[in-house]
Amino acid sequence: MSAQVLNVEGLHAGYRGVEVLRDISFSVAEGEVVALLGPNGAGKTTSLLTFAGVIRPSRGAVRVLGFPSERQSTHLLAQRGMVFVPEDRGLFGQLSVADTLRLAQRSRVRETDEVMDLLPALRPLWRRKVALLSGGEQQMVALAAALVRRPRLLLLDEMSLGLAPQVVSELLAAVRRMADQDGTGVLLVEQHARVALAASDRAIVLRHGEVALEGCAEDVSSQLHVVESSYLGESGNLA
Ligand SMILES: Nc1ncnc2c1ncn2[C@@H]1O[C@H](COP(=O)(O)OP(=O)(O)OP(=O)(O)O)[C@@H](O)[C@H]1O
Ligand SMILES: [Mg+2]
Repeated sequence: MSAQVLNVEGLHAGYRGVEVLRDISFSVAEGEVVALLGPNGAGKTTSLLTFAGVIRPSRGAVRVLGFPSERQSTHLLAQRGMVFVPEDRGLFGQLSVADTLRLAQRSRVRETDEVMDLLPALRPLWRRKVALLSGGEQQMVALAAALVRRPRLLLLDEMSLGLAPQVVSELLAAVRRMADQDGTGVLLVEQHARVALAASDRAIVLRHGEVALEGCAEDVSSQLHVVESSYLGESGNLA
């Protein structure tokens, strides 16, 4: 069995006394892509922030790359190989694409040429300021800045925000290739459930801060009608 890069057990967490996540348990192994799905407000971003050590769990345990995340600073987890791409992409508009990747690449773990092979559409944009790129191109830069660090655990929040499903599928194909080539464990938060499932091994569906459905991507796909009815706020079969 391959090593677990993320392990979550009986996790409860939230904001200033308001519990958002209740009893979440799952894990991500090396080389595995796991989709974290669920409607708006289900607790997806709160989950990623808790795994990354930004929010302290009120109960339960999170282990990142074998270490308890509550005892590590986010900075330390990053040094050990965790990369977190936030919903707003975390980019600086005034930097060029080239400088963004150079900044991300401080430890030179991967040549930018290799990243360009994973995301060839970036090549012609190399000298352009990030602020002048389209939303999809900016998301590609955010992903490239993550890939250049060759993460062991990659946490991706909502890459698809405002992007066409075709663009999202291309980005996810690069994520899939990286997981296969490097053994990176990926946890990706997505609204486009079908596109995410096509690139994932397994999926977890959150609803009201609890795990409503969990399984291999195929099984979750076949129950997607139930998942989608929960997106629309209907009672469905997930309660
Ligand atoms: N800083 C905060 N303080 C208090 N409550 C918060 C805070 N951030 C989020 N919440 C609440 O926590 C719950 C879960 O929010 P979260 O952002 O994790 O959802 P999400 O699944 O990422 O949703 P979306 O798909 O809209 O991004 C929501 O009810 C939200 O209002
Ligand atoms: Mg969110």
